[in-house]
Amino acid sequence: MQPKRVALVTGSGAKRVGSVVAGALARRGYAIAVHYRTSAAEASDTVAALRSAGGEAAAFPADLTDERAVRAMVRDVLGHFGRIDALVNCAAVWKPKPLEEVTAADVRFHFDTNALGTFLTCQQVGLAMAQQPEGGAIVNIGDWAEVRPYPGYAAYFPSKGAVTATTRCLAVELALRNPRVRVNAILPGPVMLPPDLPEAEKQQAINATLVKREGSPSNIAQAVLSFLDNDFVTGACLPVDGGRTVYAPE
Ligand SMILES: NC(=O)c1ccc[n+]([C@@H]2O[C@H](COP(=O)([O-])OP(=O)(O)OC[C@H]3O[C@@H](n4cnc5c(N)ncnc54)[C@H](OP(=O)(O)O)[C@@H]3O)[C@@H](O)[C@H]2O)c1
Repeated sequence: MQPKRVALVTGSGAKRVGSVVAGALARRGYAIAVHYRTSAAEASDTVAALRSAGGEAAAFPADLTDERAVRAMVRDVLGHFGRIDALVNCAAVWKPKPLEEVTAADVRFHFDTNALGTFLTCQQVGLAMAQQPEGGAIVNIGDWAEVRPYPGYAAYFPSKGAVTATTRCLAVELALRNPRVRVNAILPGPVMLPPDLPEAEKQQAINATLVKREGSPSNIAQAVLSFLDNDFVTGACLPVDGGRTVYAPE
């Protein structure tokens, strides 16, 4: 009998994009490692919901800016489930600040989670996948606006630029160790804006799409499933953004 496939989804404790991705993977039959940092109560709710829908799930805490914590999380997931077939990196931070006020600490804060955290999870999980005869697939989550940044987020965008570079780099490194390991990225547009985002900023984000609406986390989950299914795609970065990348409104 085939062993049950296992997916680790970072940032899937809180009811944000990661938890929707986790739900979609569970419905596909994956056992889910729910990763969280501070959202412990929400993570245990997410695990309970996945289990009550008939799935297998467990929660794993880690601050992804801490190399030892990432190593421990990956070791614990492998100890619990025995393997990792899919990694989806949804954890991130995103804070606005005018360029004049941006400090080195602001840039480091974004790099530590978005760039380093993504790198470390890809490295640790990817190397474990390379040891599995079946390999595995990693999907990182970047941001469409890395290529055409909007103002006010100068401390954030460089860290998201590192996500696409990491995706291409790890696609090469890991495939050379096991050609059945693939690494891709999704670059979302507005799919789940923060509840405290000012209404004017929200409307602006919607008007700047070609489809004239906010997307949904399930649009991201669909793209994740497609990357996991299609074993001829690696090193690719796909905008899922309602046309935001190609449209530059006056
Ligand atoms: N939402 C959108 O419309 C949108 C648009 C463009 C790109 N994206 C990208 O899509 C992904 C998912 O978006 P989202 O809105 O769901 O993200 P989010 O709510 O901003 O963050 C998801 C989770 O990341 C975790 N996290 C933050 N810092 C961490 C750290 N140092 N270590 C471990 N975990 C950490 C938090 O977990 P805890 O709560 O457990 O602390 C948080 O709940 C992100 O990469 C985001 O940049 C989203």
